[in-house]
Amino acid sequence: MINPIQVADGVYYIGVNDRRTALFENLWPIPRGVSYNSYFVDDEKTALVETVDSRMSGFLLEKLEERLAGRPLDYIILNHVEPDHSGALHEIVMTHPEATVVGNRKTLKLLGQFYDYDGKCLEVADGDTLGLGRRTFTFFLTPMVHWPETMMTLDLEGGLLFSGDAFGSFGTLDGAIFDDEMDPGFYEDEMRRYYANIVGTYSRQVQKALDRLKGICLKTVCPTHGPVYRKNPEWVIDRYDLWSRNQAEAGVVVVFGSMYGHTEAMADALARYLVEQGVPVVKVFDASKTHLSFLLSEIWKYRGVMLGSCAYNTGMLPPMKALTEKLQGAKLTDRLLGIFGNFSWSGGGVKTLEQFGTDMGWDVIGTAVESQCKLCSCEQIKLEDLAVRMAERLRQREAEDGNG
Ligand code: FEO
Repeated sequence: MINPIQVADGVYYIGVNDRRTALFENLWPIPRGVSYNSYFVDDEKTALVETVDSRMSGFLLEKLEERLAGRPLDYIILNHVEPDHSGALHEIVMTHPEATVVGNRKTLKLLGQFYDYDGKCLEVADGDTLGLGRRTFTFFLTPMVHWPETMMTLDLEGGLLFSGDAFGSFGTLDGAIFDDEMDPGFYEDEMRRYYANIVGTYSRQVQKALDRLKGICLKTVCPTHGPVYRKNPEWVIDRYDLWSRNQAEAGVVVVFGSMYGHTEAMADALARYLVEQGVPVVKVFDASKTHLSFLLSEIWKYRGVMLGSCAYNTGMLPPMKALTEKLQGAKLTDRLLGIFGNFSWSGGGVKTLEQFGTDMGWDVIGTAVESQCKLCSCEQIKLEDLAVRMAERLRQREAEDGNG
């Protein structure tokens, strides 16, 4: 038996790791898995905060029973109904019919839709409190971070926040549960990938949720996925603030779609020119090889984006089309865009990328470079000019943002 993992006085981590699921939400690759975080509150009353995916319910139940040690379970607080956090509810309430599910009006409606749940419920509204004994929880409704019913549970006095999906990341918790037990670099990347792909569309609502947390002295942030932050909770809140304001670092992400290597040659030439111009970070990705969830995350990180596509059925190569559609859905704003591609015998890749740039309202740099097929010297000059303009504009932006 492992020692209890204490998050705060009388609060324990009882989450589980999932290394078997290949695609989170049946969409997003999770090569390093994901954790479904669940917490047990041991007070005069007992509470479970979040459950886990239904496939892992047995593991959660085992940990819960260990913590309860024969006591009744008084409350199940559900900050989010998405099945990765509510899937085990049925098994928990079958074992603990005495438990009351705590959620807001939308939580309870969704529980009916997803599970026909009609057991004991306590409906809470924004700002309502629930006393457990030594701790009192306040509920903040944070709609669309990530679903309409999403809320956060806060112990104001103890500075303890159960934040739901907010501040969560992909990646299992490999022994280390807390931020002071690990190198946060991997989780920062995976938190940004989670944010960009799953929460980012609702950045405006994230900003509203962050406003609610201003002025509260948070000691511990407990998300539904990934590390628990107790060493530096401000760090994750800062990350979310930056990402939800579409802030970015100085660098350029070059993504291309290429069938026979000519558009890839353009991407490589651009990358070299960008480095020669002093751009501090340049990353090149083949959209056919790298899943768009990683591409979106990189584009969320850096200010400059260069997108290139060969022509395919008078449009973009399908992986580039999928990426641009995802970007449109994510509503990411304020990026610098350079466009390149290959006409071959029909054209269409560059033209549709230009339309994408207009639709996004991004700052389109210079003139798109469209090659006929094999890269010729005059097109190389145009690519170099595009790289020079991108580097100049990046420097300007850095200066404007006070980073120069
Ligand atoms: Fe982790 Fe929106 O579920």
